[in-house]
Amino acid sequence: MSYMNKISIDDLELAGKQVLVRVDYNVPISDGQIKDDRRIRATLPTIRKLLEAGAIPVLMSHLGRPDGKRDVSLSLEPVAKKLGELIGRPVTFVSDCIGEEARIARERATKGDILLLENLRFHKGEKENDEAFSKELAGDAEIYINDAFGTSHRAHASMVGVTRFVKTAAAGYLLKRELDMLVGLLENPQRPYIAVIGGSKVSSKIGILENLLEKCDRVLIGGSMACTFLTSLGIPQGESLVEHNSLDVARQILEKAEEFDVPGGKVFLPIDEVVTDQINDNGIKRVEAYDQIPSNLKAVDIGPDTVARYRTELETAGTIIMNGPMGVFEINKFAEGTREILKVLAARVENGATAVLGGGDSAAAAAKFGFQDRMTHISTGGGASLKLLEGSPLPGVEALTDKK
Ligand code: 3PG
Repeated sequence: MSYMNKISIDDLELAGKQVLVRVDYNVPISDGQIKDDRRIRATLPTIRKLLEAGAIPVLMSHLGRPDGKRDVSLSLEPVAKKLGELIGRPVTFVSDCIGEEARIARERATKGDILLLENLRFHKGEKENDEAFSKELAGDAEIYINDAFGTSHRAHASMVGVTRFVKTAAAGYLLKRELDMLVGLLENPQRPYIAVIGGSKVSSKIGILENLLEKCDRVLIGGSMACTFLTSLGIPQGESLVEHNSLDVARQILEKAEEFDVPGGKVFLPIDEVVTDQINDNGIKRVEAYDQIPSNLKAVDIGPDTVARYRTELETAGTIIMNGPMGVFEINKFAEGTREILKVLAARVENGATAVLGGGDSAAAAAKFGFQDRMTHISTGGGASLKLLEGSPLPGVEALTDKK
């Protein structure tokens, strides 16, 4: 994907300008409290740069999927408060992203002000990439910045349409770093380059598996998607979560892996698994060989022999990409596989290797086990990072202005 030729925030004349910034503040909120502020923190470098340069940031984001209707539970007001705390100055919350109120607030804003507009998805025009809505969002702004990597796979008005109504559409620091890490670095990896892919669905990761099979030296599989792969080989997985409609595609991926003729195999599947009768704290916990899963139990984590085998592979890796957890890490007794693999990644980073985490669950696991500062990079994008790792273009990046 060509992103190197896109204009970035460092190429802009910012002083005195109102700059419209698309951020991804789609964060978990309950009872008005932000449960995870990583996506907000990740935009601070861009906002600080704008303030230091004497520009006025007008921030806009979506939250949830309100489907074109106003929904108070999906208001960005709590985010404005949180952002104010993090950046150390008040943030003006504007209770609509277009219309009279937004226009007046934007006209009145002066140097030092930060504005956050209300949830873009309260208007149908956002998802429909509507022209009139895009034009109104752009307003009088000459500069637009995309710092919403997590939404860059959506061809929505605030990502694509709006770029037609400004003079310059540039990448912010968050977007630039994501692209440098997920495209730049992984295009030219230090080898061996190993992918660790987990999570529950093969179906959502077919593209990424196919792409990484070409690029990586090894692909280590965990999570319940491993059960789909094992079942596709005719190895029963008891009551494990198996995607029966993905068995053919799983088998095809394994067949394709054989064609690479890598000594020891290109794709590794678990050799043992942690099994339980119920996926909660009261469930039993037992380790079974991959081909001995009792018919009434389900796999919920990779077993200790698998961890040891994957560790041996990872210990020589120059570059590692991890997408998806190895088991049900939300429940402590089934979290060991995910925690151990993250521990190996952190140790590899200390020894000069690169480890990049993509996808919301891997990021949440890294945070839960205290590894979030020990990775080379943790992506702020879920669906967007999947798209990039598949090698698909992102409309929100394609729409940015090319360098002359
Ligand atoms: C995300 O959380 O992945 C992004 O904010 C995109 O959200 P969406 O899937 O609702 O478009």
